[in-house]
Amino acid sequence: MLSPYSTSNNGSSFAMMSCVRLVFDIATLWKFGSINKEKILNRAIFLETIAAIPGMVAAIIQHFRSLRNMTRDRGMLNMFLEEANNERMHLLTFICMKEPGTVFRAAVIGAKFGFGRFFLAAYINPAWCHRFVGYVEEEACHTYTRILREMEDAPRGSELARWKDKDAPKIARGYWAMGEDGTVYDEMKAVRAD
Ligand SMILES: [Fe+2]
Repeated sequence: MLSPYSTSNNGSSFAMMSCVRLVFDIATLWKFGSINKEKILNRAIFLETIAAIPGMVAAIIQHFRSLRNMTRDRGMLNMFLEEANNERMHLLTFICMKEPGTVFRAAVIGAKFGFGRFFLAAYINPAWCHRFVGYVEEEACHTYTRILREMEDAPRGSELARWKDKDAPKIARGYWAMGEDGTVYDEMKAVRAD
């Protein structure tokens, strides 16, 4: 699914995304040591809990703007809702492969609270927010490309190589119509394509 967010250049939104990325890399230990299944799932689950926020915030604001101004939304509202739901589905497919612990859940709640508030306040400038999310989505694309490359390059018999060929969760096979043979690798490719 195409992102509804613009990716045109904007210095401050790019700088903001770079800060978020730095914090995220440190928090998920992405830059330290080798990439393994645990790190991938931690990063993907955390990423998707955040990625599902902007679409819903934008949809709610569009909804109230439409009511307040008594004007049509030009299809924006449904597009944002679809985007939010798509990101939530990514989360639901990953959550089948890992049960987050208490600390992880607390971190997610904290991040949702912080980022949700920030994004809601920042939406006073929708164009800035759309550019910011566009940059975040580009970074997510880089992350999934790295994951796919790590899976492809994993030595035969290693944890990552074995996981790559495992069946994708049923919810993922259904959501992306992968058929019965859909693997975790196929799932990662489908998430990146979204
Ligand atoms: Fe996603």
